[in-house]
Amino acid sequence: MSTLQGKRILVTGAGSGIGRAAARMFAERGAELVLVGRRLDTLNQTLPKAVCVALDHSDDEAVAAFAMQCPELDGMFLNAGQFLNGSVESSPISTFDQMMAANLRGPWLMCHHLGARLKDGASVVFTGSNIGLRAIPDSAAYSVSKAGVHMLTKVLALEWAPRKIRCNTIALGPIHTAMVDARLKSSKDSKRDLARLSKVNPLKRLGLEVEVAALAAHLLSDESAWTTGCVIPVDGGADSVY
Ligand SMILES: NC(=O)c1ccc[n+]([C@@H]2O[C@H](COP(=O)([O-])OP(=O)(O)OC[C@H]3O[C@@H](n4cnc5c(N)ncnc54)[C@H](OP(=O)(O)O)[C@@H]3O)[C@@H](O)[C@H]2O)c1
Repeated sequence: MSTLQGKRILVTGAGSGIGRAAARMFAERGAELVLVGRRLDTLNQTLPKAVCVALDHSDDEAVAAFAMQCPELDGMFLNAGQFLNGSVESSPISTFDQMMAANLRGPWLMCHHLGARLKDGASVVFTGSNIGLRAIPDSAAYSVSKAGVHMLTKVLALEWAPRKIRCNTIALGPIHTAMVDARLKSSKDSKRDLARLSKVNPLKRLGLEVEVAALAAHLLSDESAWTTGCVIPVDGGADSVY
């Protein structure tokens, strides 16, 4: 089990789903947490004793102001994001703008402003997506935004290597969180679509939040000290076979 003893780690999207599970796991493994999301109440529910900061990570001024008072960090799990479906032709430009803001501009700004708050030797983990690696219908803006996160990881791995700061992305397949529930809301038969989503990978099931959290903990720990610039599919094997 990767220890995070003595490390101060910031988690975005920590008020729900994968971010909440990860924040709780990191705390159990000894980390001090800084939790970020837009809603203070849900962040407080994740870990009442953690430092909780309500901000929209795509708001340049808000992130800059936060960075001024953020303590030094040993790691960041930049996990917050949103999903909207639609093809290139069917999506209004507002969908593209929202996906780019929530999924790419947000982590970009967090790195831009908080880079100076990272200790040398720190680790940054992003949440990407397996549909940022392989194309599927009807998720165009989301997929393009996550593909951008994958490249951001590689660019930063290069830029921050002199400071021994590592950057990696976990490219997830479907995990049953609020995001998947919202995605299924518009479905005519959500049970059937959920079952279909479970079968698109060789292991024939959805992933669990803790399975993502455990890999994030490893990547944030010193155990993974030689791992950087990687985009790691965690998707039940879907990326290997499609
Ligand atoms: N679940 C899946 O199947 C799946 C698959 C591939 C990738 N992912 C990725 O996994 C990550 C976590 O998603 P999840 O499944 O755990 O869904 P979730 O429960 O909806 O979590 C998303 C989190 O992001 C936060 N957030 C959204 N927009 C934000 C913004 N502008 N500024 C700050 N925080 C923001 C939300 O908190 P507030 O609303 O309080 O701000 C929420 O806590 C996302 O990046 C998602 O794209 C999920």
